[in-house]
Amino acid sequence: MKRVLSGIQPSGELHLGNYFGMMSRMIKYQNENDLFCFIVNYHALTTIHDKELLMKNTLNAALDFMSLGLDPKKSTFWVQSDVPQVCESTWLLSNLVNLGLLDRSTSYKDKLAKGLTANLGLYSYPVLMASDILLFGGEIVPVGQDQKQHIEITRDIANRFNNTFGETFKVPEADIEKTSKLIPGTDGQKMSKSYNNTIPIFGEEKQIRKKFMSIITDSTDIDEPKDIDTALFQLYSLFLNKLEVEKLTERFMTPGMRYGDIKNELFECFWTFFAPFREKRSYLEQHKDFVLNSLKEGASKASAVADNYLFKARQAMGLHYG
Ligand code: TRP
Repeated sequence: MKRVLSGIQPSGELHLGNYFGMMSRMIKYQNENDLFCFIVNYHALTTIHDKELLMKNTLNAALDFMSLGLDPKKSTFWVQSDVPQVCESTWLLSNLVNLGLLDRSTSYKDKLAKGLTANLGLYSYPVLMASDILLFGGEIVPVGQDQKQHIEITRDIANRFNNTFGETFKVPEADIEKTSKLIPGTDGQKMSKSYNNTIPIFGEEKQIRKKFMSIITDSTDIDEPKDIDTALFQLYSLFLNKLEVEKLTERFMTPGMRYGDIKNELFECFWTFFAPFREKRSYLEQHKDFVLNSLKEGASKASAVADNYLFKARQAMGLHYG
């Protein structure tokens, strides 16, 4: 059984792109693998400097994940800052990182281009991420395409450490989402918070319905066949099996179809699909102790693994001097 490990940003309102792009895939892993999964609130500090917001987003991310099916009994699920050993190992690893490696980070450059301040945390983000992976013996790391370089950096650091101080860390493999699974937002671009085109999963019915109604469509005449290479078609397909996708294709091809009808149907489909998850979420909201206890238990399981790797790394580097 392989150890699959991934970190989740506590970035606020969960949207369809998060769910179909990453979360549903991660949650499936818990059945056949040893899943380690954590909410990266240390990483969030590189950009969120608002105590209340960070606390709220962290708890929400935990509620979201558990509502959508992450089972803390089947996996190891925790909040990053509850295992502070990752900070110590970040320091140990940072001595093996040449600045050139970090200078080439496209994610860092993108963040600066967006106007974020070039603080040290943001710059060393990939070293903390490497520490996240190596300290828990992560073997497979499911991430989006945008994180591929971070995994390359992690592999580089692990190899350097092992070559310098002796075999200590596992060298992880990235498991990149297939590009065919790009989820479009309401404007047709990739669904992303930064494009302001997301459709939230948990929220007020009326507002979410509005989002569905605002999905961009072309001005093809009602008597013409419609294009299926569009946001509306792709979003609807997320909820359909193969046969249903064929049927939808036929409807798009047949003159007389109204976009408005399709949007309404899609909303209903979405609302029904997430109904059990909404129920679970409101249950968990009312049983916060259960959520918090699960996180603490996860942290203590993760901590035991971290201690083991950290001990080996400290020893290999000569910090146990007695
Ligand atoms: N950087 C990742 C992201 O933005 C989050 C992350 C932090 C992560 N630590 C990790 C992902 C370790 C995988 C493994 O999505």
